[in-house]
Parts: sequence; structure tokens; C-alpha cells
Amino acid sequence: MPTRYANIVGWGMYTPQRVIPNAELAQQVNTSDEWIVARTGIRKRRIVGSAENNSQMATDAGRAALQKAGVHPRELDLIIVATSSGDHITPPVSSLVQHALGARDVPAFVLTTGCTGFIYALATAHQFIAAGTYENVLVIGVEIISRWLDWSDRATCVLFGDGAGAVLLQATEEECGVLSFELGSDGGNAGHLIVPAGGSAMPTTHETLNNGLNNLYMNGREVFKFATRVLGRALRRTIAKAGLTKEDIDLFIPHQANKRIIDSAARQAKLPMEKVFVNIHEYGNTSAASIPIALCEALEGGRAGPGNVLAFVAFGAGLTWAAAVVKLGTQVWRA
Ligand code: UT7
Repeated sequence: MPTRYANIVGWGMYTPQRVIPNAELAQQVNTSDEWIVARTGIRKRRIVGSAENNSQMATDAGRAALQKAGVHPRELDLIIVATSSGDHITPPVSSLVQHALGARDVPAFVLTTGCTGFIYALATAHQFIAAGTYENVLVIGVEIISRWLDWSDRATCVLFGDGAGAVLLQATEEECGVLSFELGSDGGNAGHLIVPAGGSAMPTTHETLNNGLNNLYMNGREVFKFATRVLGRALRRTIAKAGLTKEDIDLFIPHQANKRIIDSAARQAKLPMEKVFVNIHEYGNTSAASIPIALCEALEGGRAGPGNVLAFVAFGAGLTWAAAVVKLGTQVWRA
């Protein structure tokens, strides 16, 4: 069997209608636009309203990716939804997305690794295609972290936003798609980024609600240290694994969590800032959706195009990290 690669042939995104600028949060908690911009790079974020939800955002982003590629939902072989915030604990949101897309009988599953979910899903989809199992795999990163936020906790509520991004991967013999990846996990530090209650370990009770245990807790400093420790290393190793050097990377698309963390990863991998894609000022940290949203904007804005080599890197709950080097095939067209 010839070598098969997973080419990105379609992409799409959905971001909620409601925009919340820093100034609005500064009216609710003891923070300021200056502090948020200086410490994170975030200027605004988008938060879902009552008519928006996880499956709807994922479906809209996924449908846009299929339309871009000219692929009918029934031609799909697999749907992977990377998320930590599906509509329900069960059923898996992937099946709701599969149904809403009209992808009858197509297998679908959820992959949960926090903010690294999109890269984990991309690597998984690549394996299915490279093995010759599937031709068309839809990978969606979607998140509504706003549902877990304590809107009176200034240390977390200023950081996150909601949204969805998707790519359609298609089998090709052209050398492109995922050229290399690295995935990692450090569960010993899981407690630094956690929603303690609401799972099977601590089901929701009046007490957990009263004590704020259903909200996201984060030790920001520890997560920051973890990120700066792993990202540059993962990036360098993944570029080398692809048989490339930093000069071969046309665009670096990091997880958009904190501009200072992005700067640090770029510095460690010796990638100049002109090659770094940043849109955190617009959306905040959209977790598993951040890289596919950034990728969509890079493709639509002409920052990336056919034949370009991209490097993705992310860190998040778990704690996990992930990196991938992806080459856009010559079949990728500009919008
Ligand atoms: O996708 C993974 C998700 N997680 C992350 O990406 C988080 C990674 N960590 C970070 O991005 C940073 O650690 C934060 C942005 C969360 C915090 O920035 P920092 O520079 O590490 O600040 P800090 O936690 O060291 O806090 C410095 C000060 C503290 O006050 P004191 O103790 O020095 O008086 C905080 O209470 O800043 C205070 N502070 C704030 N002040 C104004 C914390 N949050 C805010 C805020 N506005 N929103």
C-alpha cells in the first residue's frame, strides 16, 4: 500500500455572538483592562448566549469545513470532537454532532484532554488515515469553558472564551498533513487545573454547589511554569522528528492561552515573532477550540496557504502537552 497522508482540505469555525471586552469584566470583579492586557494579551472574549451550545457550535464549524472541502456529510468515515464541555455528561456530544450534520451512521467519539484536545484528535485522525482505515475524518475542537467559571474569581474569569473550530482531513498520497507529533501527560500535576465536582468522584450536591466545587479551579502560576517548561521542548523535538529545522516552519500556531506563554515558547524554539500567529486578544483562551480557530483565521487571512509548513503546540488540563508539524497540501486552496 502506498504511504498515505492526512491532508487538511476544509476548515471552519464558529464563535458566539456576544463579545465581552475587558472593561465589562472590570465592572464585575476587581481587575482592569491594563492588568489583563499586560499579563495575558487578552482584550475581549466571546461567551455563549442562551441560543448557543456546544453541539450547535461544533456542528456549525464542522459543516463549514465540509462545505469548504466540497465533501457531503455522508462521505465522512469518522468524526472526532475534542472537548471537555459537551452538552451532557452522557450522551457523548460527538453523536449529537454526527446527527445534526446528517452524517448518517458515521462513527463519532469525544476526545477529552483539555486544551491539547485538538492536537490529540488531529494525531488520532492522522493514524486512522495513514493506516488505510478511513478516507475522510472530521476533527472538531469546541469548548464552553464559560459554563464552569466562577464569575467572581478574577484569577480565572478573565482568561477564557467560548468557540469552535474544525478541519476536514482527507487521505492523499501527496506528502503533507501531519508530518510528526508529540503527545504527553503529567497526571501528577492534575490538581492544578480542575473542576473538582460534577464527575463520578464527587457528584453534584447542594454542598458542592455552595462551596464552588463545580467551578474551574486553577493554580495559574503552576500551570504557567508547566507551560513554559514543556512547550519549547515539545516544539523543538516535533520539528526535528519531521526531519525539519525551525527555518522550514512557515507559521507557528500555538494554543492561545497567554501571550507571555506564546512568546516564551517562540523564544525557546527560536522562532521569530513574524512567524507566530496570535489572535488571543480577540477570543481569550478557547481551550480545545483555540488552535483550529487560529488555523481558520490564518488560512482565511492568507497567513498560511498551499505547501506551507505549520507547527502547532498546546498545553492544558491533565496536565497535558501536545505538538504537531503539519504541511498543507497543494490541494489546499485559498478562500
Ligand atoms: O489552557 C490552560 C489554561 N491555563 C492557563 O493558561 C493559565 C496559565 N497561567 C497564567 O496565564 C498566569 O499565571 C495568570 C494570567 C493566570 C496570572 O498571571 P501571573 O502573572 O502569573 O499573576 P499571579 O498569579 O502571580 O498574580 C499576581 C497578582 C496577584 O496579586 P498579589 O498576590 O501579588 O497581590 C493576583 O491576586 O495579580 C493578581 N491578579 C489579578 N489582578 C488583577 C490575579 N488575577 C488578576 C486579575 N486582575 N484578573
